[in-house]
Amino acid sequence: MDLAHYQAQSAFTQKHLLTLQDWSEDDIYQCLSLALKLKAMQKAGQKQTCLSGKTLAMIFAKSSTRTRVSFEVGTSQLGGSALFLSTADIQLGRGEPISDTAQVLSRMVDGIMIRTFKQSDLEALARYGSIPIINGLTDEFHPCQVLADLLTIYEKKGTLKGLKLAFVGDGNNMAHSLMIGCSKLGIDVAVASPDGYKPSPVYTAWAVSNAAAHASKVTVCTDPLEACKDADVLYTDVWASMGQEGEANARRQAFAGYQINAGCLAVARKDCIFLHCLPAHRGEEVTGEVIDGPHSVIFDEAENRLHAQKAVMALLMGGGNC
Ligand code: CP
Ligand code: NVA
Repeated sequence: MDLAHYQAQSAFTQKHLLTLQDWSEDDIYQCLSLALKLKAMQKAGQKQTCLSGKTLAMIFAKSSTRTRVSFEVGTSQLGGSALFLSTADIQLGRGEPISDTAQVLSRMVDGIMIRTFKQSDLEALARYGSIPIINGLTDEFHPCQVLADLLTIYEKKGTLKGLKLAFVGDGNNMAHSLMIGCSKLGIDVAVASPDGYKPSPVYTAWAVSNAAAHASKVTVCTDPLEACKDADVLYTDVWASMGQEGEANARRQAFAGYQINAGCLAVARKDCIFLHCLPAHRGEEVTGEVIDGPHSVIFDEAENRLHAQKAVMALLMGGGNC
C-alpha cells in the first residue's frame, strides 16, 4: 500500500469521528494519505486554506497538552481558528443540557472537538447538533491518537497490513481504539492485561470481527511476553487514566509486571518501534531505558497528532481539499 498515492475507493462521506469503528478501511486510508500530504505541504512552507473562515470549538472536561495544542495549531495552519472551552468555565459544566449546548454551538461554529468522560455525551452532541463532532478522548476511545499512531507506524515501517502490534497494560480507551484501528487495516493486535483490567468484551468482539474481514488477528492474553513475541510495534499507556486518580495505588499493584522493558524488546522483532500516546510514567508502564532508547519514536508520534488531526478536520469540516 502506497499511502502517498492512495486512490480513494469511494467519496468520503463520514460526518463525525466518534470512534474508528464507524469509519471504513478506505475512510482511514484517505485520512492517513491526506495527513501525509498536509505534513509534506507544511514542511515545504505551502499555505493551506481549507478551514479559512471556519471555527472549531474545543471542549475539554479533562486535561490535555497534545490534543489541545495540535487541534489549536492545526486549525490555525489550515486558515481557521479554534476556541478553547473548559467545562470548568462554560455552562455545560454547570448542568446546561448537552442537547442545548449542541444546538447553540451549531449556530456559531463549524465543528466541535470534545474530550470528556462518557462516549454517550459525545454521541448526544452528534445527535442534537448539526456540525461535525470529533472525539478528542473519552473513557472508551481515543481515535485521533490512533490515526497519528497509524501514520507513525506507516512512516517507520513503510507498510501497515501484516504487521503485529503488542499493547501491554490497561484495557482502556487506548487499547480499545488500537484494537479497532489496527484490525480495520489488517494489523495483528495482541493485548496483555491483568484479569479485571482486560479490554471491554464488546469492543474486543468488534475488533475480532474487523480482523476476520482483513485476514488479521486480535488476541487478548495475560502474559506480556506472549503479546510482545515477534511484535513490530510495542505500545503501552498509563496504568491509571484521567478520572481514575483515586485508584492509582490499587492499580500500581494490579499492573506490576505490565511494563514495556528490555525483556519485551528481547522477544519482539529486532527492528520493533516503541509507541506511547503520552503522558508517560517512566518506571511504571515503561522503563526509562525503553522510552528514551533507540526503538522509541514517541516524539515523531506526538508530532503526528498535528498532521493526522489536520486531515480529520480537512475531511470533516473543510471539504477535504487543501
Ligand atoms: N496523547 C494525548 O492525548 O495527550 P494529551 O492528554 O496531552 O492531549
Ligand atoms: N488512557 C489515558 C490516555 C491519555 C492520552 C487517559 O485516558 O488518561
